[in-house]
Amino acid sequence: MSKKIALLPGDGIGPEIVAEAVKVLDAVAQRFSREFVYETLPIGGNAIDDFQDPLPPHTVKGLKESDAILLGAVGGPKWDQNPSHLRPESGLLRMRKELGVFANLRPITAFEPLLHASTLKKEVLSGVDFLILRELTGGIYFGEKRRTATETGELATDTLVYSTQEIERIVRMAFDIARKRKKILHSVDKANVLESSRLWRETVNRIGKDYPDVKCEHILVDNCAMQLIRNPRQFDVVVTENMFGDILSDEAAMLTGSIGMLPSASLGASVGLYEPCHGSAPDIAGRGIANPLGTILSSAMLLRHSFGWEAEAAAIEEAVYEVLSKGVRSADLATPDEKTVSTSEMGDLVVQSIRSKVAS
Ligand code: NAD
Ligand code: IPM
Ligand code: MN
Repeated sequence: MSKKIALLPGDGIGPEIVAEAVKVLDAVAQRFSREFVYETLPIGGNAIDDFQDPLPPHTVKGLKESDAILLGAVGGPKWDQNPSHLRPESGLLRMRKELGVFANLRPITAFEPLLHASTLKKEVLSGVDFLILRELTGGIYFGEKRRTATETGELATDTLVYSTQEIERIVRMAFDIARKRKKILHSVDKANVLESSRLWRETVNRIGKDYPDVKCEHILVDNCAMQLIRNPRQFDVVVTENMFGDILSDEAAMLTGSIGMLPSASLGASVGLYEPCHGSAPDIAGRGIANPLGTILSSAMLLRHSFGWEAEAAAIEEAVYEVLSKGVRSADLATPDEKTVSTSEMGDLVVQSIRSKVAS
């Protein structure tokens, strides 16, 4: 039976990188006798331009009728001055909330062939392999926002709210995942200052009693930001609230060599959403030089988490590894002496690697 994948190319480099992931999915379909039906839907800035809405109703309908969703990225300078409900990012946030994907998995893997691509020392990076589990539908992103006029100017308010139930479900998932990995969980908060973090910490301690086999430590977010660079190998699973997870994952991206390498899966509802961690990269959009590997690796996560197709997912990951091992580099990964390939050449090489296994 065919699987329906909703494609949300979005803005900036989004369409360029999603096109490469689709090529890769098609190669997987061919090798493993699977069938995908794609439906391309508007979101973000292009949807504002065409439908005056960053998440038009027909997009929501299409997403809910799909088996999984693959997103490029949204946003760009063209829409940066728009009122908040007409910003590309508000469409993305509304989509995450409407779908109910509260758990954002961001694996951080330092690929051996890329160790020298990072700005950090090789010895620090070798063997890095951990997961940031970011809460995705709560916290300061979704609390009440307000602007109030005062005599001296304006007051702007963002509210960071978490309920016990919202914390419980993500923390339980973190313990479950840690149990299947190295059984080390770091819960990141700012409990020395924030009330929401104190509720977070209490909840972790309570749920932790059900997981005596998992070593759980609390770590303050500022220290965590430092430890990620000092000794990233100490981490296995890192669970945290929405905004801390956003910031820490971009920082952790540099352990892999480039933000262009990071995939993600957003789970917790009936339909999974898969997207690279980076944005629409307006500075390089339209030049055919973006790194598509974060999106390609997101499509591997899609096959694993939404369809349970481990062999197919592994085939993509192995192909990416093989291509990198051969010294293939997109511009963001290359040192000045290394030759680079374009976005579509990178996609083609991953496809070729997947196809080569059929012949052998
Ligand atoms: P960004 O991640 O788009 O770019 C940061 C830097 O990383 C840029 O120099 C960019 O060229 C580079 N980069 C990012 N992805 C790359 C790739 N695949 N290959 C090579 N280089 C890559 O972050 P930003 O510049 O802060 O944000 C740009 C826009 O993207 C904003 O409108 C922001 O809101 C949006 N954004 C969207 C998402 C999303 O859709 N999930 C995520 C983050 C940012
Ligand atoms: C991400 C992005 C989004 C976020 C923005 C574009 C709203 O930075 O997916 O990491 O902060 O969640
Ligand atoms: Mn981000």
